[in-house]
Amino acid sequence: DYQLPLAGRTVTISAGGTREPLDPVRFLGNRSSGKQGVALAVAARNAGASVRLLAAHMDVPAPAGVEVVTVETALQLREAAVAAAADSDVVIMAAAVADFRPAEISDTKIKKRDDTADPVLALVRNPDILQELVELRGDSRRSQLIVGFAAETGDGNGDVLAYAEAKLERKGCDLLVVNHVGTDKVFGQDTNSVVILARSGSEPQLASGTKSEVASAVITRIGFELNHVSP
Ligand code: C5P
Repeated sequence: DYQLPLAGRTVTISAGGTREPLDPVRFLGNRSSGKQGVALAVAARNAGASVRLLAAHMDVPAPAGVEVVTVETALQLREAAVAAAADSDVVIMAAAVADFRPAEISDTKIKKRDDTADPVLALVRNPDILQELVELRGDSRRSQLIVGFAAETGDGNGDVLAYAEAKLERKGCDLLVVNHVGTDKVFGQDTNSVVILARSGSEPQLASGTKSEVASAVITRIGFELNHVSP
C-alpha cells in the first residue's frame, strides 16, 4: 500500500516575520515574506500531514487546508509555538523572529517635539524560540523532529558551512536548513538555494530551485528522518 510520507503526522510551521511594536502605530520588523514557510505548509499538507501554520507578518496568503494561528510579536509566537509543539510530530521554525524588541511600548504615539532631545531606542533580547522548543522537548517527546532555518553570510571567507554546523550544534535542533545570503537576495524572492544539515551527521544535502521545490526537498527529508532514522 502506498502511504503519503507524512500521513497521520502533525506538523507545526512558523512563517513570516515578527513585528515588535514601539507605539500604537509603529513597529520594528524585517523583510521576511513568509513565502518559504507557506511553501513548506503546502508541501507538508500535500505529504498528508495535519498542518498548523503559525503566521507572523506575511506578504502572501496562508494556503487552504491548514490551521492558521496568527501572531504578531516574538513573544506571541513563542506562546503559540510552545502550545502547538506539545502535540506535534514535527516543528519547523521558518519564521524570521526578531532578536530584540523595544524595551518599552508607548501607550500613545511617540510625538516629535522640538523641546526635547531626540529619542533613543532601548531594546531587550527576545527568547530564542527554537532553542526553547529543543529544551522543552525533553525526554517525553524524544521522537519529535525540530527543524531550524538559518540565513548565513559567512565571514567573508565563504566558510558558511562551518558557521552553520556550529549553529546546529548550539541550537540542538535535528535539521538546519541553511540559506547562503549575501550574494543572492533571498527575502521576497521566489527561488532559494539551501543546504540541509542533520545532527545525525549525514552529508550536507543541497536543494535549490523555487521555494516550492526547496520546500518539497525539506519535507521529503523530514519524512525520511521520521520514517527511517528516528527511534
Ligand atoms: O540564530 P538565528 O536567528 O540565525 O537562528 C535562526 C533560526 O532560529 C530560525 O529557525 C528562527 O526561526 C529561529 N529563531 C527563534 N527565535 C529567535 C530567533 C531565531 O526561534 N529569537
